[in-house]
Parts: sequence; C-alpha cells; structure tokens
Amino acid sequence: MDELRTHERTQDAVLRALKAAADGIRLRILRVLAEGPFHVAELTEILGAGQSSVSRHLRILADAELVQVRRVGTWSWYSLREGTDEGAPAARVLSILSALPGLNGDADAVDRVLAKRRHATSEFFRRTAPVWDTVRERHLGPAEHLEPLLDAIGRGRVVADLGTGTGVLLARLASTFDQVIGIDASPEMLEEARRRLEDTGAEPAELRLGRLEHLPLADGEADVMVANLVLHHVADPAGVLREIRRGLASRGRLVIADLEEYADDSLRAALGAQWPGFRPADVTTWLRAAGFTPRRSERITRSNGAEPGPAIHLWEAIAR
Ligand SMILES: C[S@@+](CC[C@H](N)C(=O)[O-])C[C@H]1O[C@@H](n2cnc3c(N)ncnc32)[C@H](O)[C@@H]1O
Repeated sequence: MDELRTHERTQDAVLRALKAAADGIRLRILRVLAEGPFHVAELTEILGAGQSSVSRHLRILADAELVQVRRVGTWSWYSLREGTDEGAPAARVLSILSALPGLNGDADAVDRVLAKRRHATSEFFRRTAPVWDTVRERHLGPAEHLEPLLDAIGRGRVVADLGTGTGVLLARLASTFDQVIGIDASPEMLEEARRRLEDTGAEPAELRLGRLEHLPLADGEADVMVANLVLHHVADPAGVLREIRRGLASRGRLVIADLEEYADDSLRAALGAQWPGFRPADVTTWLRAAGFTPRRSERITRSNGAEPGPAIHLWEAIAR
C-alpha cells in the first residue's frame, strides 16, 4: 500500500514538473539556467520579456521544484534545482531536458549579460588593486585565516593559487612546492603580486592571466589548488568547481577558504562580490557534483576579527 502511494506521489511530481516545463518561455528559462545562476533583471534582458511575466514563469518552475531561488540583497538569483538526490522527480525531468539542444537564439544575449558581470568585477579590481590589502583588512579584519589555510594546503609538487590577487600566499607556497602558479583575471592585481614577490625576494612564482571559468592550465596540471576568498566573485561557483576539477590531477586536492553566508548587502558591495558568502552545505554539494570527495568542512575563524563580520570557512576535497 505504502509502495503504491509513493509511486503515485512520484508520478504526480513528474507530471507537475513536465507540465511546468511544457511552455516555450519556461523551456528557454531552463536552458539559460543550465548556463548558471541569473537574476530576474538579467533573465528579463535575455528573454526580451516583461519582468512580471518572467517572475510568473519562474514561480511556476520553482513550485515544480525545477528551479531554486537565492535572495541576495535586493536581487533574487535563480538556478536549476540542485542538491536533490538524482532519483527525485524534478532531477529526472531536468536530466531529460539537458539532452535537448542548447541555447539557440538566446546564446548571444547570455554572452552579453555575462560580459557585463565580468566587466563589473574587473573594473572593481582595477580600481582597488593598489589598496586591496587595506580594503580587505578594513572589511574582514586581519587575515587570521592564512595560517590554518596554509596548514591545510600542506606540501606537494605543483600548486595553483586561483584568484591570487596581490599574491599573499605565493611566497609562502614557494617553500613547500616545486612549482607555484598564481592565476588571476586582473592584470592590475597580478602586477601587485609581481611587485610583492620582488619586494620579499621570494622564489619566483609563475603568474598567469586568466579566468577561473577557463583556467590557463592543462588538464591535470596541478596537484593542489587553492581558492582563497575568490569563489564569492564568480557568477557560477558550481561550474567553476568543474573547471577546477579538470585542471587537477586525479587524487589532487582542492582547498577553499571563503566567507560564510552573511546578511549585510553593503559588505557584499564593498567587497565587489557577487555572493554574500556561502552556506557550507551548498559548497559541499557543488564539490560532490563536480567530481570531488569532500574531506573537510569547518569554520576556521570565529568572526575574522571584524565584529560582527562573517566567519571564514575552509573546505578541502579530493579529486575523484
Ligand atoms: C578578494 S580578491 C582575493 C585575492 C587573494 N586570494 C587574497 O585572499 O588576498 C579576489 C581576486 O580574485 C580575482 N578574480 C575575481 N573573479 C575572478 C575570475 N572569475 N577569474 C579569475 N580571477 C578572478 C580578482 O581579480 C581578485 O584579484
């Protein structure tokens, strides 16, 4: 009897998800969201539809558990539903939809929206590069998390510091790795990193200009990667973790330090961030989906010195 009821409930949920997806605009929305999270104003721009119509379609998709929403300040960001187990009705419908052709006519509009976001981040770091260390300290307090982070990174052969910024970690990593690669999308930040390496007389690290979304690394080139306070700047953290997995050797390690979710939207703006930190369980879900086995997830500062500033969390994962 119970089995019959479960079967009926699953069938109802599948039907609801299929009905929700059976609409031209909603199908386009699902395909766009397969590229990563977007907020309503961006979806409106991409689809060329009115905001109230887009919001109504999003509500239908959210009710059918095909999409999820995350509120950040005044924005509501939508993404494909994740974290449900693979057998869940909505996950099954999404996997059927993923077999359909890609973005078609929406591809150019998606590219334009993503280019605007990249431009905003690169402008922020172009302006703040010369004073970034002071800005970070003002908003996040002294970088107390660096010692536990370096302990977690440990030693190895080739390490890549993703979003290296002014290169605070590079000189320290040079003593425990044969090769150190610092990667950043901002030429101005890399210039600060180069100057810091020169000033400290540290072993030279290789500085590469590039984005986390398309890492300037060959497949499996690094055996350790570090992402220190950078993931909250990328539009699609789950997608970036898949790209990181590509650049890591099998059984390679990834160590992430980032802010735990905070409510203060003015802090997010002051840090030039896309995301107001993360819920630790979300990052762990993304790591699993990207081909990692999570090994550690713990808070490494109470409040990072800035009361009531956000805590810094550390995740460590092994590439499967
Ligand atoms: C908050 S700073 C952190 C720098 C350094 N890891 C630290 O903790 O001091 C973030 C850095 O990530 C870089 N960044 C942001 N988005 C990026 C992306 N998509 N790809 C590569 N670098 C990015 C920025 O240019 C900036 O230098």
